[in-house]
Amino acid sequence: MIKIGVLASGRGSNFQSIIDGIRGKEIDGRIVALIVDKPEAGAVERAQANGVPYFIVERKEFAGNGEMNRKIAEILEGKKVDLVVLAGYMRIVGKELLEKFRGRMINIHPALLPSFPGLDAQKQAFEHGVKVSGCTVHFVDEGTDTGPIIEQTPVYIGDCKDAHEVSERILPYEHETMRKVVSNFSKGKYVVEGRRVRYEHGL
Ligand code: GAR
Repeated sequence: MIKIGVLASGRGSNFQSIIDGIRGKEIDGRIVALIVDKPEAGAVERAQANGVPYFIVERKEFAGNGEMNRKIAEILEGKKVDLVVLAGYMRIVGKELLEKFRGRMINIHPALLPSFPGLDAQKQAFEHGVKVSGCTVHFVDEGTDTGPIIEQTPVYIGDCKDAHEVSERILPYEHETMRKVVSNFSKGKYVVEGRRVRYEHGL
């Protein structure tokens, strides 16, 4: 059973998919902390509804990003988390956090990296006119959406009428991909060799 910490900024549907994966026994784990940087994040209500301890860590409470990241690291270390999941967390993770959780921190991105990193990936994909996009779960490193790729799911978007439709089309695949990767983390380990990631069953 792994201890999972989740960072989110918004509605928290990917957070919910982990809750559901645990409830459905696909994931052998427990979410020991949800951390949000916005008190109004929908993820908070989901935490309350599901008995997940949550922490609101707002940027304005701190003198700098480094201090904020140290606070987040302190919470996650206090809860002894094995895996940190960025589930729609819209801030850059600083080195204060990264150095404590390297190889144990993953992010979901709504495009097939390395295409369309950064903000509004679905809009970028729509405007570029690609016919296939999708989602990527990857390890977090110093860059923006540049870490080694763990899992990807392609999604056809050629008939989408706008960026909103692209987002809606990809979202259920994000949930599925996220659940699968977190499930794998709970039952084995990912080994990073350079940029390549392979999975080994059994702990
Ligand atoms: C998701 O589409 C996620 O991939 C994206 O934010 C959304 C959060 O939704 N993340 C990023 O764009 C990170 N750069 P959710 O709060 O419902 O999980």
